[in-house]
Amino acid sequence: MNHPKPMQATAMAHPNIAFIKYWGNADDDLVLPANASLSMNLEQFRTETTVTFDPGLPGDELHINNQPVADPARQRATDLLNLVRQQAGLTAAACIDSHSNVPMGSGIASSAAAFAALAMAGTAAAGLDLSEAELSRLARRGSGSASRSVPGGYCQWRPGNDLDSVAVSIAPAEHWDLRDVVAIVSQAHKAVGSSGGHRLAGTSSLQAARVAGTEARLKLCRAALLARDLARMGPVMEEDAIIMHGVMMSSHPPLYYWSPTTMALILAAPEWRAAGLPVYFTIDAGPNVHFICEAEHAADAAAQIRKIPGVQDVIISGPGGPARLID
Ligand code: DP6
Repeated sequence: MNHPKPMQATAMAHPNIAFIKYWGNADDDLVLPANASLSMNLEQFRTETTVTFDPGLPGDELHINNQPVADPARQRATDLLNLVRQQAGLTAAACIDSHSNVPMGSGIASSAAAFAALAMAGTAAAGLDLSEAELSRLARRGSGSASRSVPGGYCQWRPGNDLDSVAVSIAPAEHWDLRDVVAIVSQAHKAVGSSGGHRLAGTSSLQAARVAGTEARLKLCRAALLARDLARMGPVMEEDAIIMHGVMMSSHPPLYYWSPTTMALILAAPEWRAAGLPVYFTIDAGPNVHFICEAEHAADAAAQIRKIPGVQDVIISGPGGPARLID
């Protein structure tokens, strides 16, 4: 036996919601983002992944919620594990067993939690002892936003070269008891996923302006977040999401992720605020709308959201901690 101990480890990670968005890469292969982004981990949702390297396996196997998963998803996991194998000097194939409570097609990017957990479990199973920055960098290669699911709480992911481009926590989950109140508008799978979308970003004539303005928006958002000032953070977060969707809608071909219900929710936000409910929205690559508010307003926000025709469900999450190894 080359390895007396089973080469196995299990890790857990939360997905995240970005307040300042990542859209488009400076380098698609290395997943180096065009701009810095800022997010909150989502405590309510988790992905737990066990990686077992087994020299007897003919190839990597991926199971999600006890179902075998075929290519291209399996290949994406293999691509990440190949980086781990390279670093550890390993050749064995692995069994990847993943469990997630992120509702499929909820528009909550499950790949962020999936690749953060896979990077952590895979390296631990291979006997590597990586720092948080090294893990964030590795998770980034699987899915850009996964870099932000490695550290805890509120995280900022820097652009830069392969070594520099990692996410760091700017405040722990306990810093601010925010809620992400997610209006589920559609459960349908998106026609164009994020990786295809990132490649289209540069075809929009608005992308250069979006990227140029991100630094200033991130600075404002970050300062407001550190000061726990939602009235200052909310407007810049909304603007950043709308600018990203402007890029999406003006790409070649254009990406229209909104449905009429998305628009109805966008228009409702200022009305709710005028009526004394402090909530601000952000939207990822899909039709669902994420309303960010303080914990005390979450139930009220959920009740208002449910009244909008076309809303199918509402799910609520607070801020989550870092990815971690579990027994
Ligand atoms: C719109 O390439 O990280 O959510 O996790 O598969 O969605 P997925 O992909 P990723 O792109 C995320 C794009 C975004 C904005 C963001 O999270 O910053």
